[in-house]
Amino acid sequence: MASYLQIADDEKGHELDLFCVPRHYENDLDKVIIPHGLIMDRTERLARDIMRDMGGHHIVALCVLKGGYKFFADLLDYIKALNQNSDKSVPLTVDFIRVKSYCNDKSTNNVKVIGGDELSSLSGKNVLIVEDIVETGRTMQTLLSLLSECNPKMVKVVSLLVKRTPRSSGYRPDYIGFEVPDAFLVGYALDYNEYFRDLSHICILNDQAKEKYKV
Ligand code: IMP
Ligand code: MG
Repeated sequence: MASYLQIADDEKGHELDLFCVPRHYENDLDKVIIPHGLIMDRTERLARDIMRDMGGHHIVALCVLKGGYKFFADLLDYIKALNQNSDKSVPLTVDFIRVKSYCNDKSTNNVKVIGGDELSSLSGKNVLIVEDIVETGRTMQTLLSLLSECNPKMVKVVSLLVKRTPRSSGYRPDYIGFEVPDAFLVGYALDYNEYFRDLSHICILNDQAKEKYKV
């Protein structure tokens, strides 16, 4: 079982004014739950764990847009650092797909996959899927069943966050950064109707903001 850093349900978080939060979001957030620095420290370790298991063969890192882009960029920087500072290294190539399943703060049954190279290019490769957050697990299960059709050598999934929720299908990624309470989280590229990607820390969205940015 993947180890992870657990954020407890009664985690009080940190006052917003102890960190730098954009002015335009100050009234929308309750607390900082995971400061940017902690995300980076945990990501560095995930890179080491991933290279230990996958570092023997060409890796294709597949970014699940849009929410995964920050984690993807930072994780790959750490993997690159390992690759360029050790005697053993493997080629690392990247691809990007878009998956959309959310409207407001609710997951929908309709998971759409858009973009990316021909999936057949993943045949025989070690594929690392990089995701921001797993909630029900439906998005990842849909993606995994699509990928299995193109015969990769290995598929691993890393998700920065996994939500503790009764809505979970039971699916767990191979690598997990943090396990988080059942709240709607934003920041570090996680959005609410496209807002809050421009926030460095992971924060809990307040109810007032859910109304304010509703579509
Ligand atoms: P799942 O299919 O229910 O596992 O949902 C996964 C997707 O829903 C993620 O890739 C996110 O895009 C989105 N999502 C789930 N929970 C949150 C959240 O708390 N904040 C922002 N996006 C979320
Ligand atoms: Mg996502």
